[in-house]
Amino acid sequence: MKTKVDVLLGLQWGDEGKGKIVDVLAPTYDVVARFQGGPNAGHTLEFDGIKHVLHQIPSGIFREKTKNIIGNGVVLDPIVFKTEIEKLEKYNLNVKANLFISKKATLIVPTHRLLDQAYETAKGVDKIGSTLKGIGPSYQDKIGRQGLRVGDVLAPNFKEKFKKLIDIHFEILKTHNVSYDWAALENQFMDAVNFLRQFELIDSEYFINNELKSGSTILAEGAQGSLLDIDFGSYPFVTSSNTVTAGACTGLGVAPSHIGEVYGIFKAYSTRVGSGPFPTELLDEEGDLMRKQGNEFGSTTGRPRRCGWIDLPSLKYSIMINGVTQLLMMKADVLNIFKTIKICTKYKLSDGSITETVPYELVNEKIEPIYTEVKGWNTSLENITNDHMPVELADYIRLLETALNVPITLLSTGPDRKQTIHRKKR
Ligand code: GDP
Ligand code: IMO
Ligand code: MG
Repeated sequence: MKTKVDVLLGLQWGDEGKGKIVDVLAPTYDVVARFQGGPNAGHTLEFDGIKHVLHQIPSGIFREKTKNIIGNGVVLDPIVFKTEIEKLEKYNLNVKANLFISKKATLIVPTHRLLDQAYETAKGVDKIGSTLKGIGPSYQDKIGRQGLRVGDVLAPNFKEKFKKLIDIHFEILKTHNVSYDWAALENQFMDAVNFLRQFELIDSEYFINNELKSGSTILAEGAQGSLLDIDFGSYPFVTSSNTVTAGACTGLGVAPSHIGEVYGIFKAYSTRVGSGPFPTELLDEEGDLMRKQGNEFGSTTGRPRRCGWIDLPSLKYSIMINGVTQLLMMKADVLNIFKTIKICTKYKLSDGSITETVPYELVNEKIEPIYTEVKGWNTSLENITNDHMPVELADYIRLLETALNVPITLLSTGPDRKQTIHRKKR
């Protein structure tokens, strides 16, 4: 094979800015492929004064020459998919010609959303803070070997298969207190399934490997973040898929030897939405300021995101698991307002020990972050370039590169495509 699959994924708890950067990089790739997650993702792109949020569709869709694939590792909600395609219609894009969906992707049916809600309510104070898009229940059905797949919508007995699955769900729902209008939900779903049938439903593993053989360049687009990974995240406060590089192999049918660059994307600080441990969380005015300055409200649910300083032990962990080869630092401009910036370099655990690793008992452990404090740039980053940037920002970048031992090859200073600075690989 002449080319490799590059992977771009989040190193924190999601919302790092993946959508923006996939859109920025897409012109240099023939193919962009989503490999996991589903409508829990909200990937924002901004250009020509318009903001777009994508949930199911890969972020290469606005680039005329880029083919976009929804891979087998994704869970697809036909209703969300239809709404999203309809929103794109006014932009005169060639969506039908440029979008390909794996027949092996898992279908989210309306009862998955109801189950998500039921399970969350039953958890009470221990709730995960799920986006309630049916992610957990649909992956449960996949792993439990009873799920429906996108290819099933082409089967003559699709309705029967659907009925068999929802009957199982209804049995479970009987024991929960969830209200719904099933006739309306079913109509909406069947209408969306009909809509989905018009698209190219393919054997995406063959498609991608054939593209590789013919020398195409491919970018795999991650959703969520490494710290929400089902195996390596702060379990049980995680999502239900493998968000890490290995997920691109299983979620697309790409052999590990065909993985090329791994772009690890992170914010110059940290955010998290939903429950679960967050060692550097700021519960004070500084945190509120960060939220306001960074407009940290969920792209999918609108929920306020929890905010805090950058966390090096967890970033090192993500870099290790993913084999990151290049780092991309986002939202540096959000820190413009701070006179000093804190960097968590180590954790102090409840027994007094100090560590640079992420402890197993992350959920129950009371972690005290140990910070290094540096001077902030405290100025606008609007017109900066590689060669002309505030010395404090250059120092911050250098400090992170040294601590993380991976070069930062891209710096983002605003939500627009153009507010992006490419840096040379060391
Ligand atoms: P994703 O899920 O990783 O694609 O990230 P989201 O789209 O959920 O969240 C990132 C948010 O930050 C979006 O509102 C982006 O428009 C915005 N954004 C991306 N990069 C920057 C940046 O460098 N500076 C600022 N201020 N906003 C950014
Ligand atoms: P993108 O791709 C941030 C979080 C939820 C919740 C947990 C489980 O935009 O970065 P789920 O709906 O998967 O059962 O929720 O994961 N979560 C995200 N947080 N960005 C996302 O996606 C997320 N997708 C899920 O808030 O805590
Ligand atoms: Mg997001």
